[in-house]
Amino acid sequence: NISISANIGNEVFQSPFINAAGVFDETAAEMNQILNSEAGGVTTKSATLKPRKGNPTPRYADTKFGSINSMGLPNQGLDYYLNFIEKNEINKPIDLSISGTSREDNLTALKKVQKSSFTSLCELNLSCPNVIGKPQVGYDLTAIEETLTAVFEFFTKPLGLKLPPYFDLQQYDAVAKILNKYPLTYINTINSVGNGLVVDAKTESVVIRPKGGFGGIGGTYVKPVALANVRAFRQRLNPEIKIIGTGGVKTGLDVFELILCGADIVEIGTALAQEGPHIFARLKQELTDIMQEKGYHQLSDFRGKLKEYQ
Ligand code: DOR
Repeated sequence: NISISANIGNEVFQSPFINAAGVFDETAAEMNQILNSEAGGVTTKSATLKPRKGNPTPRYADTKFGSINSMGLPNQGLDYYLNFIEKNEINKPIDLSISGTSREDNLTALKKVQKSSFTSLCELNLSCPNVIGKPQVGYDLTAIEETLTAVFEFFTKPLGLKLPPYFDLQQYDAVAKILNKYPLTYINTINSVGNGLVVDAKTESVVIRPKGGFGGIGGTYVKPVALANVRAFRQRLNPEIKIIGTGGVKTGLDVFELILCGADIVEIGTALAQEGPHIFARLKQELTDIMQEKGYHQLSDFRGKLKEYQ
């Protein structure tokens, strides 16, 4: 009698974990693997208006405690993902990720989504750290506000925002104050920790080619940053704005901790890349075992209930 289902907007996730954008989701074959697993839904690779090849390879590397990537948004283009959704009868929630490389492109893409038959969740990625020459919009408060003002002039479907990690309590105050002015359905926090550097001492070299080796860091390294961002936003956002927690999830215990900090569902990036879609069955078992042991019957029994130091 344990339920691990969760809601965002009108969508019901039978299990509170899905792939993070960019992992197992560039092609229909990959997305089908996610849909056929114990994942509660599927996220699509952040789409640009036109297909994109992304940055030169190698552009992803696994490391001892996580990963570094500078993919540069390789994707099949928005039409491909809209078609995939239209052509298949998908009975799970879909997190359709959009990541234009300019505000104009984001608005054009969202207009397309608005006109389409798509009704699930649409996520505007304001935090890609890897497009050469483009800063992360999520670190520019004015740009966030201007973008949202323009978007909500026409967009009426459930919208989420993928945010970069923040590191200062005043940043959370300032960002939450802006987000609370708009009818957002959810935020997704965090994207990778942008522009980290991994060094291979043996070869005395960086490990990925683009941007001189700088790239987004994911995996175990970033879990405390993800916990902090989920917690800090849950303490500041209007309660109607839901939270997808992303960053460093590898076990059911990690899922439990993110939900305790206030996440509605969580997304899995690096660990999914390393372990494959079987990970979702393991997470389900581990999370259910923890809840059983603690006497919890549903996620709302502990969601957001992290205690301060006693
Ligand atoms: O770490 C990331 N890599 N975050 C993004 O938002 C995009 C992705 C990429 O394609 O570079």
